[in-house]
Amino acid sequence: MSSQDTKTAQLSYDGNSYDLPVHVGTENETAVDISKLRSEAGLITLDPGYGNTGSCKSSITYIDGDKGILRYRGYAIEDLAKNSTFLEVAYLLLNGELPTPEENTAFTDSITQHTMLNENFRSLFLSMPTNAHPMPVMSAAVSAMSCFYQGDEYGEHEGDINTIRLISKIPTLAAWSYKHSIGQPFLYPKNHLSYAGNFLKMMFGNPCEEFEVDPVVEKALDILLILHADHEQNCSTSTVRMVGSSHANLFASISAGVSALWGPLHGGANQKVIEMLNAIADRGETAESFVEKAKNPDDPTRLMGFGHRVYKNYDPRAAVLKGACHDVVERLGIDSKQLEIGMKLEEIALNDEYFVKRKLFPNVDFYSGIIYKSLGIPVDMFTVMFAMGRLPGWIAQWREMNADPAARIDRPRQVYMGANERKYFTSK
Ligand code: CMC
Repeated sequence: MSSQDTKTAQLSYDGNSYDLPVHVGTENETAVDISKLRSEAGLITLDPGYGNTGSCKSSITYIDGDKGILRYRGYAIEDLAKNSTFLEVAYLLLNGELPTPEENTAFTDSITQHTMLNENFRSLFLSMPTNAHPMPVMSAAVSAMSCFYQGDEYGEHEGDINTIRLISKIPTLAAWSYKHSIGQPFLYPKNHLSYAGNFLKMMFGNPCEEFEVDPVVEKALDILLILHADHEQNCSTSTVRMVGSSHANLFASISAGVSALWGPLHGGANQKVIEMLNAIADRGETAESFVEKAKNPDDPTRLMGFGHRVYKNYDPRAAVLKGACHDVVERLGIDSKQLEIGMKLEEIALNDEYFVKRKLFPNVDFYSGIIYKSLGIPVDMFTVMFAMGRLPGWIAQWREMNADPAARIDRPRQVYMGANERKYFTSK
């Protein structure tokens, strides 16, 4: 307990006064502890969507949404994207420190040794319709890992080997879900390749030809994975923690996180962004008229890839990706209609009173979709890429929760608004 944890806030209600403890984080985020409010004052708090509710104390990721700051374990996202690899960042999130060269080699080796899937996974993929979206296929496959790796004790250290298994195998699962959807043979991992390179080979290679990993594509993919690696208590991470709080195992918890990520208001937005840009191009619509629709409260259209619950400033991930997007498009020599429309939409929105007043800026999904498209990743796979990137963050959060002596099963309250007790009646 820091000295600041001795502060209290007072609540007056119905003629009584209650002292509520105040907790102050290392970046001065200040929270009123209402955990005893019900037992002492008979009150609960109401906060739909948990927009102002801290669900835990965490040392993994810090966001200042007003200033547009994102740090993993204290390191700025911009520095990590520029100087680290995805596996180094995964190590950082999981262990709290960047790896030494020896630790990095050992971690990379262990990830590389677990990339193969049990052959029986083939039948799992083959049992799915070929037109299935790869997100539910991935969620099912991650959940199925509980069946293949049974018996590890639940707890802080269950994470160790299963963490390695998950991070190693998720590119294989992702690539196989894609191969199944296009009716091509599954490819086995090649462990001499980098994490991103191996994924690209399993995704785009075929057994008939050699596959050369393009270093531009490989680097861009690694940066995308880094930028997605954690984002504190977002919807999917909170889901992972909530499922894990019942002592469900790591695979079951992560599988639930994959499902939560799929929604278009969360990780599914990257797919929706590119669909929006394509639709604008196909209809020959102007960016101006699309923005007008997005502003109209009677029209369900939203400017996808804009706005964020936490960022009320430019999402720092979007800033990195905007630069990377131009770089990729230029180096691959692509004439990207989507990038052109995206930039126009951004320019209009950033100067429009509606967006300015509501502090709506591009979020990570605005440019990530354009990069994925330029890298040749099919639209249906965009959210799968997000899940691959977010995996170390989910695992780090799940492990932190397990190690926290204050953690309890998650169980929110409600304000009941339904019928009062009534006499049972039937007309039969
Ligand atoms: N286009 C048009 N209007 C918007 C948008 C948008 N993209 N986002 C928010 N607004 C308006 C909204 O209509 C509301 O206006 P009013 O106050 O007049 O009713 C106001 O801005 C506040 O919006 P909200 O829906 O109450 O904000 P929220 O914090 O509940 O939702 C959000 C955040 C990200 C779900 C929302 O901004 C949105 O739907 N954006 C588009 C989807 C998207 O890009 N999602 C990816 C999020 S980043 C990736 C991730 O971490 O998951």
